[in-house]
Amino acid sequence: MTKITNDLFLRACKGKSVERTPIWIMRQAGRYLPEYRAVRKKSNFITMCKTPELASEVTIQPVDLIGVDAAIIFSDILVIPEAMGMKLEMIESKGPKLYDPIRKASDIDKLKTIDAVKDLKYVLDAVSMTKRELNGRVPLIGFAGSPWTLMTYMVEGGGSKSFSEIKKFIYNQPEAAHKLLDKIADAVAEYLSAKIEAGANALQIFDTWGGLLSPADFEEFSLSYIEKIISQIKRKDEPVIVFAKGVHYKLNKLAECGADVIGLDWTMDIGKVRSKIGKKVALQGNLDPTVLYGSEEKIRTEAVNVLKSFGKHKGHIFNLGHGILPDVSPAKAKFLVDVIKEESRKFH
Ligand code: CP3
Repeated sequence: MTKITNDLFLRACKGKSVERTPIWIMRQAGRYLPEYRAVRKKSNFITMCKTPELASEVTIQPVDLIGVDAAIIFSDILVIPEAMGMKLEMIESKGPKLYDPIRKASDIDKLKTIDAVKDLKYVLDAVSMTKRELNGRVPLIGFAGSPWTLMTYMVEGGGSKSFSEIKKFIYNQPEAAHKLLDKIADAVAEYLSAKIEAGANALQIFDTWGGLLSPADFEEFSLSYIEKIISQIKRKDEPVIVFAKGVHYKLNKLAECGADVIGLDWTMDIGKVRSKIGKKVALQGNLDPTVLYGSEEKIRTEAVNVLKSFGKHKGHIFNLGHGILPDVSPAKAKFLVDVIKEESRKFH
């Protein structure tokens, strides 16, 4: 096994001491990079996901161009519903569409029980190819959607503004909802174990839509399945990060779900969260992604504010509070990375 030269990210995930705060950016392999758009022009999104050479190429772009301390494998959370048999399309400037959404118990029976190693082999090949290409420069993160977030897309059939269908589903057919969540959780756990086996050094679970739920419903429909997945993943000491957007009301419970790191969106004061749960887990975040629309001076001030709020402690991975937006200038993203590399030394 190749030794990882820059292991700041892995050390911070485990709350160990570091010389400076590591940084990576959610959605760092994406459309804000002209180099990504050049690859994307020649191929559609799903083909890119299914072609390990292309997935690997765009995964490494932000490591070379922006200088981040970790790579995240280029793929999508929706490869799981697709492998279960749902037809997926990425519609230009609209987002993902899943055909024939799930609306009743009998729809669930039609979904395939996946064999991750076979059905998602293309992702695992992309992971091992990327590991070879990275040659130990930085760690590689594998990811999946949480069962709740995946179920939201599978029932809505895509993105939504009101989320009426998913709410009708959990309130009118709670048994079917739990059956589906359980099925997705098993698939995700197996998939994440296979990613570790293929060489991923860390895992992130995205619960993008966790914040749609009331505190009690979040525990019932999201957190319990995240816990189940984490307890099932076959791993050695590879850290698991849980990013649950909008779930400020369940931090104590989140800190006990078995994750090594909790990712925070930008609506929380990271310092306050650290005093609350920072002894149990490391924290990742949490600059408002739109700060990157500001001047370099503004970016520096806001980035340093996050570092100051966290303070001189172990267990911080710098990131945005959600994905980088497609119309952000790559120069601003690189500026942020450089600022963190320089300014964070004072905090260690
Ligand atoms: O972080 C990375 O750089 C790795 C790649 C990655 C993508 N999607 C590539 C992508 C990751 C980690 C994801 C996760 C993902 N996908 C999430 C969870 C993270 C989050 O943002 O909350 C969700 C909800 C999805 C589903 C999804 N995929 C949506 C809603 C969209 C369309 C919205 C948009 O940003 O356009 C996608 C498409 C997608 N996934 C793109 C990329 C680079 C853009 C597709 C394109 O090139 O046209």
